[in-house]
Amino acid sequence: MAIRIEHLNYVYSEGTAFEKHALKDINLELPDGQFIGVIGHTGSGKSTLIQHLNGLLKGTSGAIYYNGKNIYEEGYDLRTLRSKVGLVFQYPEHQLFEVDVFSDVCFGPKNLGLPKEEVERRAKEALRLVGLKEKHYRKSPFELSGGQKRRVAIAGILAMEPDVLVLDEPTAGLDPKGRDEILDQVALLHKEKHITVVLVSHSMEDVARYVERIIVMNKGQVMFDDTPQQVFQHYRELESVGLAAPQVTYLMHDLKEKGWNVDPQATTVEEAAESIFAALHKKA
Ligand SMILES: Nc1ncnc2c1ncn2[C@@H]1O[C@H](COP(=O)(O)OP(=O)(O)O)[C@@H](O)[C@H]1O
Ligand SMILES: [Mg+2]
Repeated sequence: MAIRIEHLNYVYSEGTAFEKHALKDINLELPDGQFIGVIGHTGSGKSTLIQHLNGLLKGTSGAIYYNGKNIYEEGYDLRTLRSKVGLVFQYPEHQLFEVDVFSDVCFGPKNLGLPKEEVERRAKEALRLVGLKEKHYRKSPFELSGGQKRRVAIAGILAMEPDVLVLDEPTAGLDPKGRDEILDQVALLHKEKHITVVLVSHSMEDVARYVERIIVMNKGQVMFDDTPQQVFQHYRELESVGLAAPQVTYLMHDLKEKGWNVDPQATTVEEAAESIFAALHKKA
């Protein structure tokens, strides 16, 4: 069931000179437990779209159903929705403000009115899930590295125990090591908790390795919505909107064109290596 989006439109500053039709007739179903990538060029509407998932932005027209209920209906409990659909903004570490890491992560569950023991249990569990060691708990967030700060911010959302975790460009500004660590941690979290994860990124390379479904946004519309394998088959169209398929897609298509019996649908380096190895084996 989870989330269903129907004919959603969103217009910024309607009726002014700054009017911008940022989402155009979006129809999507996000079932429970899926690991979904949302990809698109800057300005394609990714951030606007995900801010609708927890009711932070309200569609100009259309509807969103969470577990079968229209969140735009009068009297709908948006507060509960916000704790169930956890949204991690871009550069979330800018929103850390408590004196230490542990207090910061406790903030969300404390606001839910939970007892102290439950708040602390959730905070510890959330910090474990993002891989932050206990020795950091009493540090000021400002003593941490960029990657660590971001983990704390993600833990703050996880401590609410959401059913859906939405991450807006969680690797922005991190070095390749920090990027891989965050993404590996998110993948692990998805595996362990079976929650729905929506990972927003402008990098195909980033999401190709992790997600089971890719939604490609372009100019406020859904351009593709399929498995990574299927989406990358459209690599020429992706290029035309400023996106690229992963490097291996190009390599495999090149090899195929040169007469190699490889699988052009391989999307990860591992799959590609296997396919090339098998082709070599057949040749020999
Ligand atoms: N607060 C805003 N006011 C007016 N236009 C906005 C605002 N935020 C975003 N936009 C515009 O809406 C479009 C989609 O933006 P956004 O959802 O941020 O895209 P993305 O996250 O894919 O980069 C862009 O054209 C952007 O300039
Ligand atoms: Mg954005």
